[in-house]
Amino acid sequence: MVGCSVRNQEASRQANVQDLLASMTLEEKIGQMTQIDFSVIAGQGDKLIDQAKLLDAILTHHVGSILNTPNNKAQSVEDWRKIIHTINTVSEKSRLKIPVLYGIDAIHGASYTKNATLFPQAINMAATFNPELSVKEGEITAQEIRVSGLQWNFSPVMDIGRQPLWPRLWETYGEDVHLASVLGSAYIKGYQGDDISAPNKGLTCLKHYVGYSVPNNGKDRTPAWISERMLREYFLPSFEAGIKAGSPTVMVNSGEVDGIPGHANYHYLTTILRGELGFKGFAVSDWEDIKRLYVRDKLASSPKEAVKIAVMAGVDMSMVPFDYSFYDLLIELVKKGEVPMARIDEAVSRILTVKDQAGLFKASSLLLSAELSFATQESTDTNLQAARESIVLAKNDQHMLPLKKDAKVLVTGPTANLLSVLNGGWTLSWQGDNDSLQPKDKLTVYGALQKKSTSKVTYVGGTHFNDKIDIRKAVEAAKDQDVIVLCLGEKPYTETMGNIPSLNIDQSQVELANALFATGKPVVLVTLGGRPRIITEQADKASAVLLGFLPGMEGGVAIADIIYGDYNPNGKLPISYPRNTNDIVLYDHKPIENFDTNSYNPLYPFGHGLSYSQFETSGLKTDKQQYKMGEAINLSVKVANTGSIKGKETVLVYINDMAATVTRPNRQLKAFKKVELSPKQIENLSFTLVPDDLSFIGVDLERVVEPGDFKIMVGSETVQFTVTE
Ligand code: BGC
Repeated sequence: MVGCSVRNQEASRQANVQDLLASMTLEEKIGQMTQIDFSVIAGQGDKLIDQAKLLDAILTHHVGSILNTPNNKAQSVEDWRKIIHTINTVSEKSRLKIPVLYGIDAIHGASYTKNATLFPQAINMAATFNPELSVKEGEITAQEIRVSGLQWNFSPVMDIGRQPLWPRLWETYGEDVHLASVLGSAYIKGYQGDDISAPNKGLTCLKHYVGYSVPNNGKDRTPAWISERMLREYFLPSFEAGIKAGSPTVMVNSGEVDGIPGHANYHYLTTILRGELGFKGFAVSDWEDIKRLYVRDKLASSPKEAVKIAVMAGVDMSMVPFDYSFYDLLIELVKKGEVPMARIDEAVSRILTVKDQAGLFKASSLLLSAELSFATQESTDTNLQAARESIVLAKNDQHMLPLKKDAKVLVTGPTANLLSVLNGGWTLSWQGDNDSLQPKDKLTVYGALQKKSTSKVTYVGGTHFNDKIDIRKAVEAAKDQDVIVLCLGEKPYTETMGNIPSLNIDQSQVELANALFATGKPVVLVTLGGRPRIITEQADKASAVLLGFLPGMEGGVAIADIIYGDYNPNGKLPISYPRNTNDIVLYDHKPIENFDTNSYNPLYPFGHGLSYSQFETSGLKTDKQQYKMGEAINLSVKVANTGSIKGKETVLVYINDMAATVTRPNRQLKAFKKVELSPKQIENLSFTLVPDDLSFIGVDLERVVEPGDFKIMVGSETVQFTVTE
C-alpha cells in the first residue's frame, strides 16, 4: 500500500508538472534552466538586494535558481531570511508563480551562515569511519540552512580522492570507493530524510559528475585520463550510491576526461547517468563552465555553440552565473531549431519535478525556530564528537601521549593558533582564509591546550598563517618546557587557488621543525590542512604524530582532548599518506605495483590509526568454503580490547580475487564496522558480502564475477574461499 501511494503521488506530481510545462512560454522554460550568482541581484551599501535587478531576474528573465552568498561572506540567519523572503515575494508575483530554488555550498555545515555548526571537512568525516556521524552531519546541516530559508546544498562531493596534490582532496571522502559510497549515502540520508519537503530537510547535489578528482598533473581543473574500465570501477560507484540514496541533483565535472570536457560529455551525462544509473533528477553545470567550452576548452567555436553542446549533452541548468547570455543564446538556438523543444521540456520537467519534491510549491513554508534548531548545544556536541573521531594518531612512541595536564608545554607553528586552518575552504567565505570572520568563542589548538592545562602553556607564533615565526624565540622558549607541540600544515584554500607545485611542506616550517628537534625536547607533531604534505623527516624525529586534516570548528578542542587523554583517539586514515612527493601508490594498488622493485611504502597506510588502547582481531571465518555464484558470503571475526582503557576500533574487511581476467587490486575494502569496547571486552562481528562485492569490470567492460578463489583479509588474518559456476 505504501508503494502504491508513493506511485500515485509521483503520478499526480508528473501530471502537475506537465500541466505547468504546457502553460509556459519558451522564455519561462529557459529561465528555469538559468542559474545566476547573487551578485547579479545584489544591492549597494546596506541594501542586500537591488529590487530592480531582482525584478529583472525573476520577472523578465524567469530565472529558476540563484546561488552563493552576498559579498563572499557568511550572512546572519536574519539576513538570509530577508533575502529568501524578498526573492519569494517576487516569484509569487510572477505569472506562473514558480518558486526560485536557492543553492549554496554548505559543505561542512551551513558554511555561509554566521555562527553555524561547522563540521570536520569530508576527508575527516571519512577518517571517523562512522556513518552515523555522517547522518547527523547531514541532519544538522539541513536544519541549519533551512532555518535561514535555504534548501539546496551543493554537497556531498562523491569524487574519489586518488590524487593527493589536487587541492580539493579534502572535499572528498578519501581514496576508497566503498568508504566514500557509505559515508556520502549516509550524509544524503541525514540531509534529506524520507521526505525532502519536510521543514528540516533539503536537497543534496552529487559533485562533480564524473572523473573530476584525478587530474594528471594534480592541479585543479586540468585533464584527467580515465579509461572506461577505471571510470566504472573507481569513479561511478559512489555516484551510483548517491543516486540510490535519493539525491535529486548532480553537478557536472568542471574539468575534462579523456579529451572531453565534463559539460560536453553526452556519454557520461546521458548514456550512463540516465540510461544506466537511472538518474531522474536534474544536472546543473558547474561555475561558468558552459562558457568555458568556448573560452577555455576551444571545443565550441562560439558561446552559442557552447550552449548547444552542453544542453544537448545533458546539462539541464546552467550556473551561468553573472549574466543572461545562456538564456539569450538558448532561446535563439531553440527558435532556429538547433536545440529541439523536446530537450528543453525534458530539462524543465526535471527541474520542476525537483522543485515540487522539495515542497517549494506549497503555499507557506514555516521556518524553523533558530533558537531550537540552529547551533544548539546538541549540534556542537555532535560536532565535537565528529572532530574527535576524525583525528588520526599516527605515531606514539613510548606512550608519549597522552600528556599529563601539568606538563609544561610550548605550542608553536603556523597552524597552532588559527581557527581558519582547522576549517579549511568554504568556511564563512569561499577561500576560508579570512581570520577576521571567525567566531570569537571557539578555540584554536593553542587556546584549547591552554584551557585544559593545569600548568603553563607558552605560545610562540604569529597571528596569521604567513607570519614569520621567530625561530630563536621558539628555541629559547623550548628550554623551559617538558614538551613541544609543533603545529605544521597548510593555510586554507579552495579550488584552483590551492594549486601547488609540490607536496613538500614549506621550507620555513622545515627550518622551524629542525631547530626545535635540535633542542632535544620531545616533540608532538600536529598537522592541519587539506592534503598529506610530506612530513617524513619530521614524523621520524617526533615522538608522537597527530594528523588533524581539517577537523572543523571544534577541532582545537578535539586535538587538546586527545593530547591530554580526555579522549581516546580512533580516527583511521582514509588515504595512503605518502612518504615522498612522487611516491603516490594507493592502498588498493595492483600486484605489479608491489612487485620486483615496486612497493607500497607510504609513510602511513590507508586505515592506519592508533589508540591509547590496543585491539586484536581473531577467529576470522566464513560460513562456507565453497559458494555458488550469486550466493552471499557470511563471515565473522572477533575483536578484543586488550588494552587498559575503553576505546573504539574500526574493523576493516578487505577482499582479493586471487586470479582474474583483469588484474585485481591486492585488496579492496568491502565492509567495515566501528565498535566501542571496554578493557578485556570481546565482540563477535558478522558481515555479509553480496555477489557485487566480488565483482569487477571485466574484459568486455561489463561488471562480472568470475568463479575461482578469493581471499578475505581482516587484521593479520586471511581466509580463502572458492566461488563455483
Ligand atoms: C565549484 C563547485 C561549487 C560551485 C558553486 C564551483 O566553482 O567547483 O564545487 O559548488 O562553484 O559555488
